[in-house]
Amino acid sequence: MSELGVAGTVETRGAAPPWAAAMTLGALICFVAAAALLWGNRLRQAEVKLIEPLSHARLEAGFALYGQHCSACHGRFLSGAPGWRTDPELPPALNETGHAARHSDLELYRRVAFGARGRDGRVTMPAFGGTLSESEIVTLISYIAAWWPEAELRRRALADWTSPAICGPGAVDQS
Ligand code: HEC
Repeated sequence: MSELGVAGTVETRGAAPPWAAAMTLGALICFVAAAALLWGNRLRQAEVKLIEPLSHARLEAGFALYGQHCSACHGRFLSGAPGWRTDPELPPALNETGHAARHSDLELYRRVAFGARGRDGRVTMPAFGGTLSESEIVTLISYIAAWWPEAELRRRALADWTSPAICGPGAVDQS
């Protein structure tokens, strides 16, 4: 009896590894998947939201700020300077015909606050961080966003939206 019992124990030990290994592997896969999901959420939370729907008064303020500081280069209707598509150092369109809507709120904010330089180090867009307040810059990028199609704004509002655009050979901060 006892011999059988011992033999049984040994047999049980011997039979365990195949499914135990499968379970361990399964648990490991679950763990990695959960970690990836959590990590993904952490990255998503890093997407700072600055653009907001504007009241009529702030829309007018945005229109005035844009006319004063930006329209000479980016155009009254935000359509950019002629030839911007082929020359990345020319002021691009900021409306739906350009790629501004594909940049994150923070990227847009930084571009306005810090400006840009071309490949040769020449300033292509001045920095407005010293001239405009933080809230004026937020008003401006929200004003620009007000030109974008409804569907674009809805897409950006989704929790898993991340900025798909990488552009500009001369995208160097002036700071
Ligand atoms: C002297 C011309 C000039 C003025 C004035 C100017 N910009 Fe620009 N802007 C540029 C150029 C050139 C670029 C492209 C440079 C780059 O991104 O490397 C650019 C890029 C941008 C971008 C990035 C767009 C994209 O799709 O990559 C934003 C947003 C922007 N400008 C907003 C503004 C706002 C808002 C103002 C007014 C406060 C302004 N700009 C004033 C020349 C100008």
